[in-house]
Amino acid sequence: MTAKSTFYITTPIYYPNDKLHIGHAYTTVAADALARYKRQRGYDVMFLTGTDEHGQKIQKRAEEAGQPPLQYLDEIIAWIQDLWEKLDISYNDFIRTTESRHTEQVAAIFERLIEQDDIYLADYEGWYCTPCESFWSERELADGKCPDCGREVQWLTEQSYFFRMSKYVDRLLEFYEQNPQFIQPESRKNEMINNFIKPGLQDLCVSRTSFDWGIQVTRNPKHVVYVWLDALTNYITAIGYGSENQELQQQFQRYWPADVHFVGKEIVRFHTIYWPIILMALGLPLPKQVYGHGFLLMKDGKMSKSKGNVIDPKVLVQRYGSDAVRYFLLREIPFGQDGVFTPDAFMERLNYDLANDFGNLVHRTAAMVHKFAGGVLPKAGVLTKFEEELMELEQQTISNTEKSMDALQFSQALTSVWQLVRRVNKYIDETQPWALNKAGDTERLGTVLHVMVEMIRVSSILTTPFIPQTAEKIAKQFHFADTELTWDTLHEFGILGAGRDIDKANPLFPRLDVAEEIQLLAQNAGNGKEGTKMDETKMDGTGMEGAQIDRTKIDGAQIDGAKQQNKDGSDIKNEKQESDVPGKAQIGIDAFDAVELKVGQVKVCDKVKGADKLLRLEVDLGTEVRQIVSGIAKHYTPEELVGEKVIVVTNLKPVKLRGVESNGMILAASQGDSLKLATVPDTMPNGAVVK
Ligand code: ME8
Ligand code: MG
Repeated sequence: MTAKSTFYITTPIYYPNDKLHIGHAYTTVAADALARYKRQRGYDVMFLTGTDEHGQKIQKRAEEAGQPPLQYLDEIIAWIQDLWEKLDISYNDFIRTTESRHTEQVAAIFERLIEQDDIYLADYEGWYCTPCESFWSERELADGKCPDCGREVQWLTEQSYFFRMSKYVDRLLEFYEQNPQFIQPESRKNEMINNFIKPGLQDLCVSRTSFDWGIQVTRNPKHVVYVWLDALTNYITAIGYGSENQELQQQFQRYWPADVHFVGKEIVRFHTIYWPIILMALGLPLPKQVYGHGFLLMKDGKMSKSKGNVIDPKVLVQRYGSDAVRYFLLREIPFGQDGVFTPDAFMERLNYDLANDFGNLVHRTAAMVHKFAGGVLPKAGVLTKFEEELMELEQQTISNTEKSMDALQFSQALTSVWQLVRRVNKYIDETQPWALNKAGDTERLGTVLHVMVEMIRVSSILTTPFIPQTAEKIAKQFHFADTELTWDTLHEFGILGAGRDIDKANPLFPRLDVAEEIQLLAQNAGNGKEGTKMDETKMDGTGMEGAQIDRTKIDGAQIDGAKQQNKDGSDIKNEKQESDVPGKAQIGIDAFDAVELKVGQVKVCDKVKGADKLLRLEVDLGTEVRQIVSGIAKHYTPEELVGEKVIVVTNLKPVKLRGVESNGMILAASQGDSLKLATVPDTMPNGAVVK
């Protein structure tokens, strides 16, 4: 038997000086999704997380708590491990830097590096930020304050050990060049080179004498190993580096070098400059990739324990379930970029994506199998163009998901799966199993029901890394065997055969009362502190001034939701008529300014009775919900539109279409028979001005 390929993935080891918040959960959930995906793809995965337990801050916290550090830490670590259990984090190992497998090796590494003259003793003077435990050079200070946290710094002189970073700079740059995928996203590499390497890389202070909660330097015990050398080496000590135990040695050989270190962007520097240099000094191969993702922000900036605007992930998990939290984090924010956590966005993802789209698909499918086929999966008969079209999208979705996962683009992967899920819902509307039942077309009905269940099987496999509990529930409900849920079976249409029981079950995701939940979430932010009004982000449009749509795109002729109807004589009268007439007369900015455009989100959408081109939409504009009638029914199903962000002309005079009042117009681009709504990224709050 040939050995499986290995995949070693890590999260940062978090500081347990307090409980962790949703930002820490973000990195860990992302790493978990990738770990689960790699396991699905047949890799032998090592997924490591843990805690960074030394340092002055933790010593102080323990003192304040009146506890010995380890006792203080044990409680927090138990809390953290419980959090990971609640979030279904499937880590293979959890390293605590206070464990002997780590401390002994760090002490030995330190001795070796002194002997190699990579570490030397010197006087250190510099600006020191106590909360950040960081020394800064004059040049690095921001207005005389700590460039990381903005607090006061003090001038300190201390004898310390230093790591000769400068010695390795050329090798490091060469490594970057030869391994262009090492720092991701790409943009962070230039930041490293321009901000830290080019100005001259400083030697790194690697010991302290001002506190003693740390790993002692063997030959000079008044020094303890200072933070980054202690912290970074966890990635090798955890898997057995330096161990005398043969199994552990083999484990180290098997998994090192790591395939990817997931870190927040603020510690990319330590992972892409200091860490590779430490490894070079130890003669070890370098990790294949460091991925620095963006920050999860609150309306008032970065979430931080010291700011007190944190969200307790346990509260979210308890109320909404682990899958909802995991899905939101990975769907809402493109990995690599910053994103804002708003209760509104969270609720929308839950209600629309999870409850309306996926939950409803599963629920209605099981219900129909019961109603029309006695709760037993029918066999698939002859496939028609409906199935062929659907299966084409299915195959595309599988390959898009694979590509996105390999590129660590989790939100893209989920977006493509949800396209499929929405398409299956549409397939049901098109094929109308209830009508087939009425007509007594059992064979065709069986085919449609079978395809519905098959699509649930495929969606379930594709979403397992993100929402593992849901996948498990579906497997139980539909009696899918493990062998029917492997990645390889994605392309095996027909694997389900016929005849198995399908259970009725409660909806997978409850539909929530948005207003109620938003209030509750707002109360829960910031440890009960006032002033963290999370729910305002969307309401007041603050900070949205920069959010502009390129004007040329708006009046560039192709955007007109009404074109189709005007052409074929429907009764939409007050929507723009002139769209694709080339070379319209120039207008002044005033004429343009007279049009009020805002970002809205479709909350409810249904067909207008007796008008096959019209849809009735309820669009959330942040401060109000508007009813708008739009002639796009030939291009979009109501289900597809719910949850979509659209651009609304908000100051059009109201008009009645087929007796239904329309208070505005949504923008769309159209050419020939195709029409697509003009849209903005989901992170743009409702009510944001488009100009
Ligand atoms: O830095 N958004 O630990 P730490 C996204 N012990 N991610 C966030 C986040 C946010 N708002 N807040 C925290 C340390 N994170 C060191 C690491 S590694 C050898 C040593 C995540 O407790 C993100 O991954 O401050 C960030 O890098 C990490 O938590 C920092 O955790
Ligand atoms: Mg930090």
